[in-house]
Amino acid sequence: MLKGKDMLSIHDLSVDEVQEILTLAKELKAKQKAGIEHHLLKGKTLGMIFEKSSTRTRVSFETGMYQLGGQALFLSNRDLQLGRGEPIKDTARVLSRYLDGIMIRTFGHERVEELAQWADVPVINALTDLLHPCQVLTDLLTIQEHKGKNLKGLKMAYVGDGNNMTNSYMYGCAKAGMTFVAATPENYRPDETVRKNAMEDAKQTGASISVITDPKEAVKGADIVVTDTWASMGQEDEHEARKKIFAPYQVNKELMALADKRAIVMHCLPAYRGEEITEEVLEANADVIFDEAENRLHTQKAVMALTMC
Ligand code: CP
Ligand code: NVA
Repeated sequence: MLKGKDMLSIHDLSVDEVQEILTLAKELKAKQKAGIEHHLLKGKTLGMIFEKSSTRTRVSFETGMYQLGGQALFLSNRDLQLGRGEPIKDTARVLSRYLDGIMIRTFGHERVEELAQWADVPVINALTDLLHPCQVLTDLLTIQEHKGKNLKGLKMAYVGDGNNMTNSYMYGCAKAGMTFVAATPENYRPDETVRKNAMEDAKQTGASISVITDPKEAVKGADIVVTDTWASMGQEDEHEARKKIFAPYQVNKELMALADKRAIVMHCLPAYRGEEITEEVLEANADVIFDEAENRLHTQKAVMALTMC
């Protein structure tokens, strides 16, 4: 179903396509653990354009391509002519002549859309200021592993900055039929267009999407509590000011006491201990959080195999 398509946003995927990605990710994970060859992209090449830093995304995409029998090229904007002003539409058409797929991490979401518009090969969004779909698909797989395959009706509470993760969680939870409540300060709400789109998507699955300001209310009875950095990449100058504004939004033991007794805590990483999450809560949930990091590999392999094969 996804063959030849781009993967820019979970909003663009059907409910079945999300399921297809999760099912293949699970299968590829099992194969990799059992040492069974799964060279679904033999001889294929992925170009990975990075205009922002990365640990997990770079290593998991590059290793994933290798495990699928293909290869990956790390393309930093410090080295590409793109970084010196070559237009995206030219870069897209040139790279399409060499590559079988392009992964991009950048600032403005419109850059990814423009790349996809001009590229003849699938384009995968590996984070923009607006969305981080690969991470949220990964998180759905991780929730299935820890909470059971049926995601419908599970309550996720997001506490902190209304950022690219929050936006993608709204789309992911809508497609999965989950109850999603974000608690953010009034001026740091997630994107309004994304929220409206997610509310529309939610009608298909019976999901519920809401954005409030009270972290305690959001976390009440939650099965999954998630947070993310208070200052995303590109907001480094605001970090100190944000520490004060977001202080009431820390995920700590007191807040977690309001969640379901068996609640899990997730974090896409990198984490800033003592800010959005305490050392204690992070370490108590380290098994889930590092499964989540590992699952980037398996989920992205599924996305690449389905779009690039
Ligand atoms: N979670 C995530 O995308 O991590 P990186 O920034 O290290 O890729
Ligand atoms: N919101 C964070 C996610 C990092 C993976 C950022 O954009 O920096």
